[in-house]
Amino acid sequence: MPHYPTLREQFISRFGGDESGIRIFEAPGRVNLIGEHTDYNGGAVFPAALTFGTTLLIRPRADRQLSLASTNFPADTRLVSLDGLTFTGDDDWTNYPKSVVWELGQRGIELPHGYDMLFHGEIPNGAGLSSSASIEVVTAYALLTLEGRNTDTVEIARWSQHAENEFVGVKCGIMDQFAVANGRKDHAILLDCDTLKHELVPFESGDCKLVIGNTNKRRGLVDSAYNERRAQCEAAVSDLRAAFPELTLLGQLTLGQYDEFEHLIADDTVKNRARHVVEEIDRVGRSVEVLRQGDLAAFGRLMNASHDSLRDLYEVTGAELDAMVAAAREVPGVLGSRMTGAGFGGCTISLVHQDAVERFIAEVGDKYKAATGLTADFYVCDIGDGVHEAKEEI
Ligand code: GLA
Repeated sequence: MPHYPTLREQFISRFGGDESGIRIFEAPGRVNLIGEHTDYNGGAVFPAALTFGTTLLIRPRADRQLSLASTNFPADTRLVSLDGLTFTGDDDWTNYPKSVVWELGQRGIELPHGYDMLFHGEIPNGAGLSSSASIEVVTAYALLTLEGRNTDTVEIARWSQHAENEFVGVKCGIMDQFAVANGRKDHAILLDCDTLKHELVPFESGDCKLVIGNTNKRRGLVDSAYNERRAQCEAAVSDLRAAFPELTLLGQLTLGQYDEFEHLIADDTVKNRARHVVEEIDRVGRSVEVLRQGDLAAFGRLMNASHDSLRDLYEVTGAELDAMVAAAREVPGVLGSRMTGAGFGGCTISLVHQDAVERFIAEVGDKYKAATGLTADFYVCDIGDGVHEAKEEI
């Protein structure tokens, strides 16, 4: 939980003025419980918002500049004109708030003046817990609120995803922005990424805790094989159109339909990618069912199956994630463990009996270090709320 008075002081020391007029907004990070690489295939995902994320302190300026600062990079305040916003590699994280202002412009919402903005991020960068979506969504929500516009959080998710796709150039799906915008304390979100129909499902983990393990192997989404995976899924759709002429996304097929026509996919690698997607979507449905019955052991087995499929069929895990998951599964009291997010590094999520959490952190940390030379971090995960204006407790 950030300390607002300290953040206010930092805001004033960067931008001058006094406390009046500063508003504070927050957006969480997210963790995906199951349903990986299904969102851009129009399938189901099952993410949850975290209790930590990005805090934004914001105040209007008289001119047409955005002044962007972050407590995470104390030496650096960027001044950006509202007119002619473009993506620049050197602008680093500031491309995310810029992308949102650009997106609002695309939607006919021109800001009449600039803003001073101080960001405070508690999500480790590059960990796959959606620090960028969190910055985008908090920026969009704050600006729309201050401009007296509609702050529909489903729209905010769509716009933020579009900003990342078109301005930043990362062809991500909608899951991250959606979870960050629409999360609810103690609930996971069952989201159909084709229709955006969604349902908040109470996440009751009984005697168990969700534990996030950060491999501290940075995950490069833009440069990674992410876009290649997307293209392979499109190739599968194109082959399957021989049987389903109207097909546009793999998520429109049931597992049974896929089984029957998989032979139409020419390339074996593409076949593996497609099989992961349709089976993973099926696992999301089964996960929600077993969780409703309180069968955590069955959910744990589905988490394991998800990881194994991401490792063997979708091939997005890598040595670090595999080492951490293997170590996790050896600890008594672990019901399931999988990578979460895009893969190629980033984090794992494990369902661990509460009495085993301490031992889990110690043993997985040691074994992971021995296997990879890297030091892991662990966070026992509570599920928090989506984007909102902060209620100050001074
Ligand atoms: C990243 C993307 C999401 C999703 C996941 C994989 O987090 O931003 O849209 O595709 O990878 O499930």
